[in-house]
Amino acid sequence: MTPDLMEQGARRLRALTEPNASGKTESGGREAGFARIAQAGEVDIAHGRILYLEGVSVSFDGFKAINNLSLDIAPGELRCIIGPNGAGKTTMMDIITGKTRPNSGTVFFGSTIDLLRYNEFEIAQMGIGRKFQKPTVFEQLSVFENLELALKTNKAVKSALFFKLDSAQSDRLAQVLCTIHLASDARRMAGNLSHGQKQWLEIGMLLMQDPKLLLLDEPVAGMTDEETVRTAELFISLKKHHSLIVVEHDMSFIERISEKVTVLHEGSVLAEGTLAQVQNNEKVIEVYLGR
Ligand SMILES: Nc1ncnc2c1ncn2[C@@H]1O[C@H](COP(=O)(O)OP(=O)(O)OP(=O)(O)O)[C@@H](O)[C@H]1O
Ligand SMILES: [Mg+2]
Repeated sequence: MTPDLMEQGARRLRALTEPNASGKTESGGREAGFARIAQAGEVDIAHGRILYLEGVSVSFDGFKAINNLSLDIAPGELRCIIGPNGAGKTTMMDIITGKTRPNSGTVFFGSTIDLLRYNEFEIAQMGIGRKFQKPTVFEQLSVFENLELALKTNKAVKSALFFKLDSAQSDRLAQVLCTIHLASDARRMAGNLSHGQKQWLEIGMLLMQDPKLLLLDEPVAGMTDEETVRTAELFISLKKHHSLIVVEHDMSFIERISEKVTVLHEGSVLAEGTLAQVQNNEKVIEVYLGR
């Protein structure tokens, strides 16, 4: 994301979260109420949920990619989502992050923020971080510079151009470097890292924003066994402080990290429970895990 785009987004968020001079809002009182609630750091988890989807459907040219999907994620939970190719896992993430608008249903962040009212940038600013499958780090910059750059998307920073780390941010950067196991590689060019390290760096870039909810789409694809094990440890260390939704096909990885597993099939929840429970579910065996 370019600094221009970041600043543009920050402006849009400020417009949403701060009352304007005339005291008017774009669409009246209801908007004003939501805008106040949508300030970063104000996600209402009093009802025990960080994310709530109900009856969500989306069709592409008549094909129902998501079909009456409901999902409930608790604060600090690490939820695994599995399911066959084309089940709608990535599309579900697209809906949560505002990339795709559903045709029907509700999507709430905490119990008060209606995510369908916000765009992709605003949703990211609210504290929902997303990691796509392919690492998208800045290859020509060092590990340190990549993490530093991630801070510049913060809405509090007026201009990326005059950005300088304050001491709290320096501490945070050092802490993230340790969390992602790259403390001794801070000065290395990101382009020289292994595939797994690049994935960790990208997760680190998300962590710099201290997201409340992290969406991770096939995070261990292409990793070595050792990197996969380390990634499992990393995710386990992240839960509680963050909520995580992890989509993966690698069952050995799921086994290491899983608490509750949701199986998606044809855009709906086919089964939900512990890994052992879903692995023994006849329908799941038939459509996904094989006999
Ligand atoms: N923008 C789009 N336009 C048309 N069809 C789409 C679009 N996005 C997704 N689809 C279709 O929706 C279905 C669900 O796709 P999705 O990528 O969400 O599956 P997935 O569960 O992530 O699969 P995989 O495990 O292969 O990543 C697929 O049939 C896909 O072709
Ligand atoms: Mg996918």
